[in-house]
Amino acid sequence: MSAKVLNGTELAGKVKERLKQEIEALKQKGINSGLAVIIVGDDPASRVYVNHKKNDCAEIGIKSFEYALPATTTEEELLSLIDTLNNDPTVNGILVQLPIPKHINEDKIIAAINPLKDADCFHPVNVGNLMIGKPTFLPCTPAGVVELLMANDIPIEGKNCVVVGRSNIVGKPQAILLLAKNATVTICHSKTTNIQEICKNADILVCAIGKAEFIKPEFVKPGAVVIDVGVSRGADGKLVGDVQFQTVSEIASAITKVTGGVGPMTRAMLMQNTVKATLIQNN
Ligand code: GUN
Repeated sequence: MSAKVLNGTELAGKVKERLKQEIEALKQKGINSGLAVIIVGDDPASRVYVNHKKNDCAEIGIKSFEYALPATTTEEELLSLIDTLNNDPTVNGILVQLPIPKHINEDKIIAAINPLKDADCFHPVNVGNLMIGKPTFLPCTPAGVVELLMANDIPIEGKNCVVVGRSNIVGKPQAILLLAKNATVTICHSKTTNIQEICKNADILVCAIGKAEFIKPEFVKPGAVVIDVGVSRGADGKLVGDVQFQTVSEIASAITKVTGGVGPMTRAMLMQNTVKATLIQNN
């Protein structure tokens, strides 16, 4: 058996087409949408991600404001910029690309963003609202994964979903979103003792640990759906996911690739949050 490859690029294109029309309708009413993107330092991967996000904005008619700050930026300077953006009515969404340099307290930065402009859904208020089932925004990668499953008619309710990874960006919110869809959810992490056995029980396996090709066929139940969130570089410099794609695709029923899978969906959800923020702020 060879798994169906779930195409995130194609679905993200459809989502962005819908958002483009929403942005157009807002413009007819004199409302513009703006997203501020802050990058601190010169991490090459972050630079690529930020460029993609700016391109998505341009594609659907959101104005993007880039703030590329040196790695020597102080916490006070970053907080001051966020304060300015919080008070700028042309900026509806604010995102700080992570990671940021170690001398800046990430929690403090996230908490400083106006929750109504928190396009990433990282602010504790938004995470709390998500937790109680009343989200304002959706966490981008986890929401992109759920959209990808639903658009491909993959049922979630009642399924055993295993999330590998417990980060605040992906693992934890992914578990909450799948739970909200009535799945039975298990989270595995670096201290889980019988990780292979737990993964092998999954109907839907979402891998977000950033360990190259960690998930091998012996971790996967035949016919399972395998979603790969991880992005690493192999010894040859090529991008690899958390899943050994060639071998796992022989036994899974559906799978995502390291490129053209979850990544474009994450960004489409970021655009969706920005549109939502614009609507909320102009209500
Ligand atoms: N770094 C890795 N993923 C993300 C993301 O989704 N948003 C931000 N702001 N930084 C990231």
